[in-house]
Amino acid sequence: MRLEDAKKDHYRKLAKELGYRSRSAFKLIELNKKYNLIKSNDNILDFGAAPGGWLQVSSKLVMPKGKVIGVDILPIMPLGENVTIFQGDIREKEVIERILHAGEGKMDVVLSDMAPNISGIWKIDHNNQIDLTMLIIDRFPELLEKNGSCLLKAFDGPRLKSLENNLKKNFKNVKLIKPKVSRNASSELYISCRGFR
Ligand SMILES: C[S@@+](CC[C@H](N)C(=O)[O-])C[C@H]1O[C@@H](n2cnc3c(N)ncnc32)[C@H](O)[C@@H]1O
Repeated sequence: MRLEDAKKDHYRKLAKELGYRSRSAFKLIELNKKYNLIKSNDNILDFGAAPGGWLQVSSKLVMPKGKVIGVDILPIMPLGENVTIFQGDIREKEVIERILHAGEGKMDVVLSDMAPNISGIWKIDHNNQIDLTMLIIDRFPELLEKNGSCLLKAFDGPRLKSLENNLKKNFKNVKLIKPKVSRNASSELYISCRGFR
């Protein structure tokens, strides 16, 4: 077995053992340890939340009073009392409108682990992934509290720099990172941003 596959396999098994719905859960645990983005009593909005690994992690971190909203095209099996689920494609305008009208107000942290269906053609996948990410960044003034934070997945490629520059205009602190749980060969990375202006 290749080292890459062995690593993937290890985290998949560990997720199963610990009751996490996805190995992605370990990425959020690692990134949150490093950047301290999610705190007790925060309200969190998680885009691309299915099957729910990040929801499991964040809904524990925000206890006792924080709430978490998860959004995905795919259905998500119900989680704890502090988790609300919306099913929908965020490319459709009404999906974000539904979230805005849910009455939870602006969020302390926005998470996005969204990844489009992979075509295998790197340029197309990069473009589609950055398009999805830009859709939510454009709505930050309505979604995110002043001084709030976000953690966004991004596929590396020609548009990454302009995405980073856009975020640097809107946040006091912006950092790019590749978590250990991500496969080395993948072009996936994460952007942690704090202090929404
Ligand atoms: C890597 S998975 C997320 C894993 C999740 N963070 C977890 O811990 O279980 C990426 C998700 O993005 C979702 N997604 C992709 N395009 C989307 C869109 N246009 N609107 C909403 N969700 C989308 C996919 O359905 C998929 O569930």
